[in-house]
Amino acid sequence: MVRIAHQTQLGKYYIGDTERFFRLKKGRELKGKVQLILTSPPFPLNRKKSYGNLQGEDYKSWFVGLAKVFSDFLTEDGSIVIEMGNSWVSGRPVQSLLHLESLIEFVKHPDANLRLCQQFVAYNPSRLPSPAEWVTVQRIRTTDSYTHVWWMAKTDFPKADNSKVLRPYSNSMKQLLRKQQYNSGVRPSEHVLSEEGFLTDHGGSIAHNFFELEPMNSKREVRLPNAFSLSNTDANSFFIRTCRERNITPHPARMPLGLAAFFIQLLTDPDDLVLDPFAGSNTTGFTAELLNRRWISTEIKPDYAKQSKIRFEDEILHKSKSKG
Ligand SMILES: C[S@@+](CC[C@H](N)C(=O)[O-])C[C@H]1O[C@@H](n2cnc3c(N)ncnc32)[C@H](O)[C@@H]1O
Repeated sequence: MVRIAHQTQLGKYYIGDTERFFRLKKGRELKGKVQLILTSPPFPLNRKKSYGNLQGEDYKSWFVGLAKVFSDFLTEDGSIVIEMGNSWVSGRPVQSLLHLESLIEFVKHPDANLRLCQQFVAYNPSRLPSPAEWVTVQRIRTTDSYTHVWWMAKTDFPKADNSKVLRPYSNSMKQLLRKQQYNSGVRPSEHVLSEEGFLTDHGGSIAHNFFELEPMNSKREVRLPNAFSLSNTDANSFFIRTCRERNITPHPARMPLGLAAFFIQLLTDPDDLVLDPFAGSNTTGFTAELLNRRWISTEIKPDYAKQSKIRFEDEILHKSKSKG
């Protein structure tokens, strides 16, 4: 059964199996209308999380089978962004190729007409050491601390505008803009810097395809995309505080809010439709709501639906709405 758990003016959160939802009339009606599918699917883990994941080849064929389904939901210039962590071979200090094979076969699915627009890396310096046996007990591997983020589309030119996700200028760039001078000419990398190309203030620098979710050294200058910080230390966020107060265990694999905000701003306009088929605590839907995008989320576990509602009690939402 698929049912609505909660809704806002801009979005709906459905409880039920996502593939089942897509087969229903309300799911089929979304075909060709979704501007962005932004999701972190259940990862191929060698140890089951509480929400239970498929493993090995079963995982791969299930995941790859979603490529055509997802592609059908996109507008012609829409995008799919998938975040996926690394996986390890069970009982061995060996990395599995499963996540890479899954992503590659997904993008190459013969009926989905997808291509990889760009790969991003989301590095989390505060990731706990894992896999524990090899990292903390035997000390023969290092901490697995990043996730892959793949941006795919049905055309080489999906809707995208990197001027919407500018990073603040570095201090040296600010100084250069103030002084209006720099050393032009050929750099050791053989890049040629023109005489005036860097003198115009564009409001910020162009984002990179590498996200550091929080600084390792708090004194170091970090330049994250605008609007939201990419920090994943949400220990003091409204959502986590309220979960704690109500004795609710927060979703174990929440997507960083800044990551969701980055792709929603880069790839959609206000009022576009954003879909997260594996919504969990609904970071995607909440961020879409904050940014005035319409959203649809589906999630199989009712408990996550319940806790996701907490996000929408956050005052930040009401403040962002009153700002218009
Ligand atoms: C990695 S988590 C997503 C976390 C989410 N991005 C967040 O920020 O909270 C994957 C989610 O997919 C859900 N899930 C797994 N299989 C599903 C299915 N067949 N249909 C819908 N949801 C499913 C899991 O319960 C889990 O909450």
